[in-house]
Amino acid sequence: MIERSRIWDILENYDVENIKIGAVASHSALDTFDGAADEGFRTLAVCQKGREKTYTHYFKARRRDGIVWKGCVDEAWVFDKFNEILLEKNQERLIKENVIFIPNRSFTSYCKLDEIEENFHVPMFGSRNLLRTEERTEEKDYYWLLEKEGLPFPEKIDDPRNIEELSIVKLHHAVKKLERGFFTCSSYDEYRKKSEQLLKQGVITEEDLKKARIERYIIGPVFNFDFFYSPITKELELLGIDWRFETSLDGHVRLPAQQQLSLPEKQQIPEYTVCGHNSATLRESQLEKVFELGERYVEATKKHYDYGIIGPFCLQTCVDKDLRFYIYDVAPRIGGGTNVHMSVGHPYGNTLWRRRVSTGRRIAMEIKMAAEEGKLKEIVS
Ligand SMILES: Nc1ncnc2c1ncn2[C@@H]1O[C@H](COP(=O)(O)OP(=O)(O)O)[C@@H](O)[C@H]1O
Ligand SMILES: [Mg+2]
Repeated sequence: MIERSRIWDILENYDVENIKIGAVASHSALDTFDGAADEGFRTLAVCQKGREKTYTHYFKARRRDGIVWKGCVDEAWVFDKFNEILLEKNQERLIKENVIFIPNRSFTSYCKLDEIEENFHVPMFGSRNLLRTEERTEEKDYYWLLEKEGLPFPEKIDDPRNIEELSIVKLHHAVKKLERGFFTCSSYDEYRKKSEQLLKQGVITEEDLKKARIERYIIGPVFNFDFFYSPITKELELLGIDWRFETSLDGHVRLPAQQQLSLPEKQQIPEYTVCGHNSATLRESQLEKVFELGERYVEATKKHYDYGIIGPFCLQTCVDKDLRFYIYDVAPRIGGGTNVHMSVGHPYGNTLWRRRVSTGRRIAMEIKMAAEEGKLKEIVS
């Protein structure tokens, strides 16, 4: 892991008056750029050829006398592959442009974590040392942290033979490399049948199946809590709540039961590919429970991961019939669903800040605050 002091040395030479906000142009980048533009920053999108037009064309920033009146992306660098941003010369360019980089899931998916940890010298807003915790196969992953600190998560099932109630089997998709090959089952028999079916269809591999995490399926709605922890104010904020559209699952549940039952074998098992987001609010009496989860996560990261969580993170939860929340996934960075509150803000972010505040804008506010108070060191790693 690059020493934080090394990043601070680089930051020393930044022109604080001219900080730009940069991100890999995918995932939640639009929210990041939109929020940055609202707070008066210039923005830089790291694009990949073939998927750049959103940033270079459709949301390109137009400015008049320096004031942006349309769009939010000032500059776009288009590479053949996203991971070219790791090249020494490109890092140097980012540093020369005073870029504070916002790590999102596309950055950590398309660029190797080893490289980000050891060789990416651009000051990042967020916690470099936590990015790896979201890899489910790591020893000290988020499950490790949740377990260590007694935070609730769906019970793990070590052996598929012990499946006795509805469970979810989590593994990678064999072909769609960044997608999921998840399936659900409520007995060992069903586990065998479904996994055989998916193996035959080439959706999963034997090797991944062996390493899969099996856990109890929480029957209840999904709430992804978009939190923000400020190292400047030392306060935790709930900015928004989102939940995801997943294909083909959402299509399946919109079919009448009889139609579901008559689907041919190859259409029977849904996939869980995220393809959109929606916004939600939570029954008020439940809010404090969720704040408590957020506070405990912040404390846990401080205890086990040096400086702990910086800025945005997302606790992905399901709630059961007794209103118990279970954290099934943790994003130690900006969540994937924050475009739901881009520009319009979110009931919670807005209520707190008395203006429209999305995660992207909150990030920019924190950078601005830190720059003004001479505290930039506290928010980068
Ligand atoms: N234990 C669980 N119980 C119920 N649903 C779950 C559980 N774990 C995951 N899910 C569902 O699977 C989806 C993706 O799960 P997640 O663990 O976040 O995978 P990924 O790492 O691909 O984001 C979520 O939309 C959620 O609805
Ligand atoms: Mg997830």
